[in-house]
Amino acid sequence: MPQIIDGKAISTQIKDELKSRVEALKAQGVSVCLAVIQVGSDPASSVYVGNKKKACAYVGIKSLAYELPEETTQEELLALVRELNGRKEVNGILVQLPLPAHIDEDAVIRAIDPAKDVDGFHPQSVGALCIGQPGFVSCTPAGIIQLLKRSGIEIAGRECVVIGRSNIVGKPMALLLLQENGTVTVAHSKTRHLKEVARRADILVVAVGKPKMITREYVKEGAVVIDVGIHRSAENKLCGDVDYDDVAPLCSAITPVPGGVGPMTIAMLMNNCVEAAAAR
Ligand code: GUN
Repeated sequence: MPQIIDGKAISTQIKDELKSRVEALKAQGVSVCLAVIQVGSDPASSVYVGNKKKACAYVGIKSLAYELPEETTQEELLALVRELNGRKEVNGILVQLPLPAHIDEDAVIRAIDPAKDVDGFHPQSVGALCIGQPGFVSCTPAGIIQLLKRSGIEIAGRECVVIGRSNIVGKPMALLLLQENGTVTVAHSKTRHLKEVARRADILVVAVGKPKMITREYVKEGAVVIDVGIHRSAENKLCGDVDYDDVAPLCSAITPVPGGVGPMTIAMLMNNCVEAAAAR
């Protein structure tokens, strides 16, 4: 049977390490504070935002919650971001996505001070990642690197296939695996012979957004499979992009859903907040 990569346990370990760092910073008179902005009341976003606030409380980070109505204008949102940019006690600014359709997401992300861009979505942060310079890294792919490292999985020299090319997961994931000296292929919805491409992978990262799409035909025997997806089935059960029961017997290691990648995203957000405060 494969090694089950326990994202819950690893994320708790990281948050406990951060708790000590937050205490040490406090002893030096530095407090850590994250501003979380949600526009509208999308139920999934509300759950994510709630989890982020809970994690802040656990780690000892102060969180400021801005729950703005759906009708908030772009100018109003930009004005809030600029105000938070200017507030010294705020170390991190997170604008929960997606934003309502009348707001230009890119314009809002660009307005965040890169020094407070704890999501790692600002073009300056993405550019820095691309050329291997310091900056904030998108939390989900950063969390996946931690899962691999803390599970003793070697990346250097191995075939890594990322399925998905989003700005938040696929692209930064590919860059991080490359930084770790993996041999990286990025596959996507237009990739020909996707099964064959996926079967090259020693490490397969799946972020396609389709429930249980990845079956055993996509997986080489002994591969490590990382599932970024999270979906709720008709029977109200959570599942990922990977058909876990079909794929797990074939793998050397696999992340479960829930309890794999999900908890890591928030742990890395907490890490970025602490880094932001420490850098001041
Ligand atoms: N919406 C879904 N995932 C994320 C995330 O990681 N950050 C933000 N800001 N919004 C999201």
